[in-house]
Amino acid sequence: MLSFFVFIYVQESSKGPHAISTEQNHESKDSDLPTVPPVHHLPLLQTPHIYHISTSPPSTKACNVEVKDRPVIKVSHLNTYVIGSYMEHRFSEKQIKMIAIVLRHEQAAYSCVMCCDGGTVTSPAEFSIHSDHFNFDYGTASITCPINSTCSSPTHVAIKARASLGRVTSFQPIKNINIPTTFPYEFTICISVMYDYKSVLNLVQSMEMFRLLGAQRVVIYKTNCNSDTQKILDYYEKRGFVEIIPWTIKKHITVSHGWKRNESPGQLHYYGQIPALNDCVYRYMYQSRYLALHDMDELILPSKVKTWTELLPELENRYGSNVGFEFENNLFPFEAKAHMDHEQNKWKSVQGTNILKYIDRLPNPPNVFNNFKIIVNPRLVLKTTVHGLLHSMNGGYTVRVNNSIARMYHFKNFTYPPNAELIRDNRLWDYVSDLIPAVSKVLQACGLIEA
Ligand SMILES: *[C@@H]1O[C@H](CO)[C@@H](O)[C@H](O)[C@H]1NC(C)=O
Ligand SMILES: *[C@@H]1O[C@H](CO)[C@@H](O)[C@H](O)[C@H]1NC(C)=O
Ligand SMILES: *[C@@H]1O[C@H](CO)[C@@H](O)[C@H](O)[C@H]1NC(C)=O
Repeated sequence: MLSFFVFIYVQESSKGPHAISTEQNHESKDSDLPTVPPVHHLPLLQTPHIYHISTSPPSTKACNVEVKDRPVIKVSHLNTYVIGSYMEHRFSEKQIKMIAIVLRHEQAAYSCVMCCDGGTVTSPAEFSIHSDHFNFDYGTASITCPINSTCSSPTHVAIKARASLGRVTSFQPIKNINIPTTFPYEFTICISVMYDYKSVLNLVQSMEMFRLLGAQRVVIYKTNCNSDTQKILDYYEKRGFVEIIPWTIKKHITVSHGWKRNESPGQLHYYGQIPALNDCVYRYMYQSRYLALHDMDELILPSKVKTWTELLPELENRYGSNVGFEFENNLFPFEAKAHMDHEQNKWKSVQGTNILKYIDRLPNPPNVFNNFKIIVNPRLVLKTTVHGLLHSMNGGYTVRVNNSIARMYHFKNFTYPPNAELIRDNRLWDYVSDLIPAVSKVLQACGLIEA
C-alpha cells in the first residue's frame, strides 16, 4: 500500500518540468538525472519516512531493465538519441516507430530490443534519415522495428547498435499501443523549441489567443526559460492546457540557433525543431483531431469566422478532408509604427512586447513563394517538416488556404525594407474584448501584475 502511494506520487511529481531548476534559468532536466520532487507537492504524504523514500524514485522496470519515459535517450556506442517510441498502426504490418536524432555519416546499423510479457526479443531495425537536415551533421531519423508473432504485443522498446553484444541499459514505454475511440483534444498546437525564452507578455498573449481560437492543448518542447516564464508555464500546465516536453538535446550535441550552417554554427538545425515536431505528431496522433504546427509568435487567424472550430469544417468542405492546410505567413514588424489604441498600462512592467500595437503587415508579393505553417490531421502524417509535410499517408498533401479565408499573423522584431508599403490589418483587434481581460487575469494569477 505504502509503495503504491509513493509510486503514484513520484509519477505525478516527475511530470513537473521544474523539479530541478536554478533561480534564473529554468532548464529542462535530462532523463538521466534523478527526479527530486519539490517539497510543496507533498500535501498528503508528509511523514519523514515517506519523504525519505520519495526523494529516490522507485526505478520502474520492464524485463528487468530500467524504464525511462523522457526524450533524449542516448544509444550506447552510437551518436544516436531516441526521442519517442510509438506503435505505428497504419500499415498492414504493425511496427514500432521511433523518432531519433542521428549523426548522419555514422551509417549505423541498429537492432530493436522489445520487451514482451517479461521476455525480450531482438530484431533488426530499419531507419530513414529525413531529407530536411539542412546539411547539419545530425538529422532526424525514423527508426522502425517490425512486430511479428514472436512478440506481438511489446510494451517497451530500446535501440542498440546491431554489432553490440551488450544488454540495453534502459527501455522506453511504447506509446499509442491502443487507439482511443474519441480524441481528448480537438486542436493541439505543437511548439518547438522554447530556448532562452523570456518574452512573458508575448507568451500569455499567444496562449490566450490559442484558447480563443479553440485550441485545447499546447505542447511545448522546452530547453530553458527565465523564472517569470516558468511561472506562466506552471500556471497553464496545472490547468492541463500545456504539456511541457523537456528538450535536453543540447546537453549531448551543439544545437544551431538558425537554419544556415555557415551563419549559425552547430551540429543540428535550429535547436532540434524538426525532431521535436515529428515527435509531437506521433505523441498526439491519437490525442488530437488536428495539430497546428507553428511557433509561439505566430497566430493563424480566420478572416470571416472567429475560431478554428468554425474554420476547419469550412476548409474541409472547400479543399477536402484528406489534406493538410497551409496558412500564408504575414509579417508584422515591431519596427513599424506602434498603435497605442489597446496599450495597457498595467502590462508595461511585464517583459515582452504587446502585439496589439502592431497592426501593419508587410505585403507578400504576388507570384513569389510565400512561406506557411500548417494545421493537419496527424494521422495523415508520416514525416513532417517545419513548413508542410515531407511524407504522408496515401499520397496525402497540403493545400494552400486562400488568404481571404485565413492568414498566419507573425509578430516579430525585425528590420524591413524602407520602401515597403505596409498594409493596415487589425484583425487581431476583433479579439481584444476577450483577450485583454484574459491576459490580465493570468498575469495577476501568476503574481506578475497587481490585481
Ligand atoms: C520474427 O522475429 C524473430 C525475432 O527477431 C525472428 O527470428 C523471426 O524470423 C521473425 N519471423 C518472421 C516471420 O518475420
Ligand atoms: C526591436 O529591436 C531593436 C534592436 O534590437 C530594439 O532597440 C527595440 O527596442 C526592439 N523593439 C521591440 C518592440 O521589441
Ligand atoms: C482567393 O479568394 C478570392 C475571393 O474569393 C478570389 O478573388 C481569389 O482569386 C482567390 N485567390 C486564389 C489564389 O485563388
